[in-house]
Amino acid sequence: MVAGRAWARGRLQPVEVGIGSDGRIVAVGRDLPGSRRHDVGDAVLLPSATDLHVHFREPGGPGASESFGTGTLQAALGGVGLVADMPNTLPLVDRLSRLDGKAARVRGHVAVDVALLASAQRSARLSGLAEAAAGFKLYLSPTTGIDEIPDPAELAELLRRVDSTGLALTVHAEAPDKFRTVESLESLAGWDGSRPPASEVTAVTRLLAAAPQGLRLNIAHVTTEDAATLVAEAGHASEATAHHLLLAAGSRPDAHRKVNPPLRSEPERRRLWERFRQGKIPFLASDHAPHSLEEKARPLEHAPSGMPGVETTLPLMLEQVRQAELALATLQEAACNRPARWLGRPHGRLAPGHEANFLVVDFRARRAIEARSLHAPCGWTAFEGWTGIFPREHYLRGERIVEDGEFVGRSSGRIVRPEYAPRQKVDVVAPRVER
Ligand code: DOR
Ligand code: ZN
Repeated sequence: MVAGRAWARGRLQPVEVGIGSDGRIVAVGRDLPGSRRHDVGDAVLLPSATDLHVHFREPGGPGASESFGTGTLQAALGGVGLVADMPNTLPLVDRLSRLDGKAARVRGHVAVDVALLASAQRSARLSGLAEAAAGFKLYLSPTTGIDEIPDPAELAELLRRVDSTGLALTVHAEAPDKFRTVESLESLAGWDGSRPPASEVTAVTRLLAAAPQGLRLNIAHVTTEDAATLVAEAGHASEATAHHLLLAAGSRPDAHRKVNPPLRSEPERRRLWERFRQGKIPFLASDHAPHSLEEKARPLEHAPSGMPGVETTLPLMLEQVRQAELALATLQEAACNRPARWLGRPHGRLAPGHEANFLVVDFRARRAIEARSLHAPCGWTAFEGWTGIFPREHYLRGERIVEDGEFVGRSSGRIVRPEYAPRQKVDVVAPRVER
């Protein structure tokens, strides 16, 4: 068993976690029986995070800046025990044979658990894909690896077909007809202007109008308070990224912070942060989308969009907790509990029957975030010089995979699919935060 402190009934309290031989939690309490006891003192036990949005780029051709091995290593070190990998790889995962091919690359090569999302760009193969996917992803605008978007007249039918598979759908919601063409870009403020907040709000409005009642819908990387509010009022889910929550567009001329959807103005960022802080954005996700330094060195208008984040997202937010900008309970809900429930997984809670996937966090162990001490092959981070709190230990099914901030595990991650259908959407969507 592991003994430490955990958040329960509105406060941090001493707790012991008993782990069964099957890697699941058997008991949580005090004075549990058993002789093997690992006491982490006043460090905090937190369920491993589930990151609903990563691009591990495999298959991705010879120039790919990530793989399942490197991506899941970063996840393990960043406190993420389960990731949902996006289908905009090369080729696009839009048929069962490609999903099976991807699964073959995952097995035996991953440090943490992986849920594979399939592409919903085309309706024809959805039911076949649903046999093996953990969920679907739909892009409403062109972006990395996505050239074709669904015909607006056919959106409602497409959503109905996704709904009939019973799987959850994540949507990249930007409306290309609201984009503005820019000939040359001088700063990220220009990128924000070219894919303006109105393109997000419009896409979300259209999507909500077309979505069938029961569809389990998550809007990826919301950047505006307006979009987040519309989604919540319609009873659907949304996710926010660390970069949209912490960084504003600003006047930088380089492309490292170029991302789709763009970073917004400082006032818009603050409004998004406030909503997240109040527990009103259900999920925290990284949208880990690395591109090489060479690609990012291109002129702003030609460089690809996206930035790495799976290793730094939780550490950045734990530092926000330490600074009393964010409640630990709110973070635990958004990073750990809700996203695992969304995927229908017994991950993300320190409770009997759940996978014994958890972190040991020492809030005194703060560290400067520097690309050279991170593990992303792309070799850079948009958060250079920020402070993070990285987990001291990470357990996957009771096995220690991170010790003193170093990876000591094996490739013991698994491919996972939903084990249960969340009872109701509201189970995931409604703020259920103990303060
Ligand atoms: O910035 C982005 N990068 N947005 C996306 O939608 C795709 C992602 C990528 O795959 O690079
Ligand atoms: Zn993405």
